[in-house]
Amino acid sequence: MAAILACAVVAILIASMPKQKEVEPKFVFSYAENQPENYPTTLGARRFAELVEERTNGEIRIIVNAEGVMGTEAEVIAQLTYGGIDFARVSLSQLSEYIPKMNVLQMPYLYRDSAHMWSVLDGEIGDDFIELAQDYELVGLSWYDAGARSFYNSVKPITCPEDMKGMRIRVQESEVMADMVEALGASAWKITYGEVYASLERGTVDGAENNWPSYVSMMHDEVAKYWTTDEHTRVPEMQLCSAHTWEKLTEEQRQIILECAKESALYERELWTEREAASREEAVAKGVQVVELSMEEKQRFQDTMMGVYEKYCGEYMDIIDQIIAVGKS
Ligand code: GCU
Repeated sequence: MAAILACAVVAILIASMPKQKEVEPKFVFSYAENQPENYPTTLGARRFAELVEERTNGEIRIIVNAEGVMGTEAEVIAQLTYGGIDFARVSLSQLSEYIPKMNVLQMPYLYRDSAHMWSVLDGEIGDDFIELAQDYELVGLSWYDAGARSFYNSVKPITCPEDMKGMRIRVQESEVMADMVEALGASAWKITYGEVYASLERGTVDGAENNWPSYVSMMHDEVAKYWTTDEHTRVPEMQLCSAHTWEKLTEEQRQIILECAKESALYERELWTEREAASREEAVAKGVQVVELSMEEKQRFQDTMMGVYEKYCGEYMDIIDQIIAVGKS
């Protein structure tokens, strides 16, 4: 009896103790991401949100909405510019439709390899393009990795540019990507990311192009089994904040956000490297047929791109030259 009484007293005491005060966030912001939950860019976004909450002592909470639930990338960019969405990570292909000069950084066969692209993005050129976003109601925060993109299809192995002739290839909603595919003699079909699997499955298109992790995580490998490693583009991704959201923040909060974005990007890049190799292995184990192009054949793909460079980079050939020079240094 005495023991029961003692327990009751303790329970009453605990219940009457002052509760530890929960910090109410001053801001709750939205973050749009169109990849699945366990994808490197989504994990990078979650790391970003955690770091920001921790370093602002709970003042800023960022809710990451993955799997494209906030809309297509084009819609998300529009929302960022109005302040309807606070943060996002988007592919540069989509961003270039809104900021045409960004095309310079995603031209076909521009980078020698991943190290070349990172020397450019982590250097002055990359910083200039991050700043450029400011002229468009956007604040560039950091660069995320999205590897190299190659062609895949459901019809036949592509071993030379001639094999592309007449193929219907899905591209992002991007003019330069459409022109690139048409320069190879294929027809370009602009389809949003979430619709690609169904379009391949129904045969609306014969093929598409993307990086290994997207190919596998969106299950395109199940409906388009012929992959050709031509690595035509390296399309980096930018983490962005809406300028309307940015205006609400103090200088100290802005600095924290920038620093957390950069840290999350380094984390994402590490995850990316592991994921790229693992996705490729997984696809091959599932029976995907991979064509590796010889240097000569790859050069022939590249040779068809002259017109695309003239159309999109005519005014910016000096920057293209600088990017090429970084690759040689
Ligand atoms: C990549 C990129 C996405 C983009 C997609 C696409 O997966 O990370 O942001 O939407 O390519 O091809 O549309």
